Amino acid sequence: MPSGTTRDIKEQIARLVKDLNYHSYRYHVLDTPIISDAEYDRQFRQLQKLEEQYRYVLPDSPTQRVGAAPQEKFEKVRHAEPMLSLDNAFSHDEVRDFDGRISKLLGADGEIEYTVEPKYDGLALELSYRKGVLVTASTRGDGYEGEDVTLNIKTIRSVPLKIEGAQVPDEIDIRGEVYMDLAEFEKLNKEREKKGDPAFANPRNAAAGSIRQLDPSITAGRKLFLACYGMGRLGGISFESHSEFIAWLKESRFPTPARLKIAKGVDKVIAAIAEIEKGRQGFPFETDGAVVKVNDLGLQQKLGTKTREPRWAIAYKFPAHQENARIDKIRWSVGRTGVITPFAIFKPSVKIGGVTVTRSTLHNWDEIRRKDIREGDTVVVERAGDVIPHVVSVVIRDEKPHRGEEVQIPDTCPACGSKVTREGGEVAVKCTSLHCPAQIQEKIIHFASRGGMDIEGLGEKNVELLYSRGLLRHFEDIYKLRKDDLIALPRFAEKSAQNLIDAIERSKKTNLARFLYALGIIHVGEFAAKLLAKNFEGLEELYHVSREDILNIKQMGEKIAASVATFFGDKKNLELLDVMIKEHGLTISNPDYQRKRNAPGALEGLTFVITGTMPKPRKEIEGLIESHGGHAASSVSAVTDYLVVGEDAGSKLRKAKDLGVTTVTYEELLKMIEKGDKAPRLF
Ligand code: IVH
Repeated sequence: MPSGTTRDIKEQIARLVKDLNYHSYRYHVLDTPIISDAEYDRQFRQLQKLEEQYRYVLPDSPTQRVGAAPQEKFEKVRHAEPMLSLDNAFSHDEVRDFDGRISKLLGADGEIEYTVEPKYDGLALELSYRKGVLVTASTRGDGYEGEDVTLNIKTIRSVPLKIEGAQVPDEIDIRGEVYMDLAEFEKLNKEREKKGDPAFANPRNAAAGSIRQLDPSITAGRKLFLACYGMGRLGGISFESHSEFIAWLKESRFPTPARLKIAKGVDKVIAAIAEIEKGRQGFPFETDGAVVKVNDLGLQQKLGTKTREPRWAIAYKFPAHQENARIDKIRWSVGRTGVITPFAIFKPSVKIGGVTVTRSTLHNWDEIRRKDIREGDTVVVERAGDVIPHVVSVVIRDEKPHRGEEVQIPDTCPACGSKVTREGGEVAVKCTSLHCPAQIQEKIIHFASRGGMDIEGLGEKNVELLYSRGLLRHFEDIYKLRKDDLIALPRFAEKSAQNLIDAIERSKKTNLARFLYALGIIHVGEFAAKLLAKNFEGLEELYHVSREDILNIKQMGEKIAASVATFFGDKKNLELLDVMIKEHGLTISNPDYQRKRNAPGALEGLTFVITGTMPKPRKEIEGLIESHGGHAASSVSAVTDYLVVGEDAGSKLRKAKDLGVTTVTYEELLKMIEKGDKAPRLF
């Protein structure tokens, strides 16, 4: 910084920071702005320019709220004081019992003074300020240790980066709830639906999902709110009562619970609860209850805490919201794992607890049959704070001759048109297509996983990102990814982009067992994939496979047979496999294949590992196993069927015990072969 201008510039920057923070507070906390958005933006840009030019940035500068780079993971943070949870009361009588307990514990003869405030349905958070500056924001976690979400929390405009006010403590941990208001929640879900992303079930999940983002720019794009209602460690400041603490928070520009009431005696407490309950439909946020606290902090101290909850507070839970709604249509949707679920579309839509509900899950076909739900029926829909709306019962059945038809299971997947499978006795209807857009993310994550194609760097987060940017909409897109496309994304740099491209390239040389597992065919886990690989020479042999062919393999059951046959019976799946092999150069070897023997071996399909000292050379025993159709592996894993144990067995035996793998001696192995022991079929 040029020295002559230092003081002036510093002052100018400090003034801009102060002004902008004040205006932000008026806008985001008080909701009464006094300058226009355009004026705010102008000053903001001016500050940005000065900061850049003179490389002088104050810790509470509003420019520090955005633009942080994505993180790899969240660091853990230990709370100086544990973050407790609350006991619940479900009736007014239970609130009276609570008051009774408190009076008794305190030996009080007069009425106790309480505060009553809404219970915000969001995510608990701790903000740690040192010398007035926000240093860490952490989630509740298990109450003792949470995650460091500072960068994300800084993007919430109503969170002060610095404590302004007459009394600035040396240290203070302030607790509150981050939440998304209902208008924002509905807006976000509409946008997500348009993009084909799954909607959040409720505002709480939306808030939690937004805070637990490794990329702060995503959090910044979501409008989140905060209500501060409690404290952890304090230093250099003290309060007499909860209401005094809340007043200090307010003065210091923190957002605090709306409608906090002081109520002396339990009758007033119950009246205050009723008032919140009556008003809650009109609140801009979701509340599932009211929190009652002993106001006097000295008395709180005396009452102390149980293991997880304080004795001095209770959450009164409101009953779930219910409304009647008419089902206009029943439709089916496909989840990320291919399960096809029916849902009802209501017309007109209904407001339940402040949220517009236009549809509700009907869970599964059996549920529809059991409740005999049909189009045209009026039903009771319930929305409890933490669950997506669901249909409780039918109240008016649409009368004949208008009553809708009984609901039928669809033959084809509503997302991709492929044939669906429904196995006898199972409630779930599933789509198995590799092309199904509803499942593609999940399928790709599985495809790339360690047991599958083992593409390091193509995990959940990256798949989500690549999908959202339109780079990974189809299976084969994996092989079309280019380094330049990756570098342009927030989570990638030169090196990580190259690493992913290399990992994809490496994965192209694979073996049939891995490949079959990677395809994510229903019921085909690692073991079944290996068994298929042992019995079919190559992928092409499976193209015309029938149920019976698979059932001919010892250990293969009905379900796998049906699912594998459906998978390879789908022409589109075969086309995709061809594209992967012919256009993208996948080469699939099959070291597991065993030429058919006339008599299937007694150990067919079983995997053995040998450990300890054996009466015969190890190679010989391995040969014996293989000659009876078994597979001899070198290390114990979840797919090991038997560990053959000799003397002085060590770590392999321990691992086998941990995994629940059966152990046999060499003599028992011989007996198995002799008896032609049959292992049970899979599925
Ligand atoms: S006081 C010692 N006040 O509810 C416990 N909690 O079910 C201090 N919550 O973990 C909590 N609104 O995340 C308090 N006005 C409010 C609240 C509130 C929501 C949450 C908080 C807590 C959970 C317990």
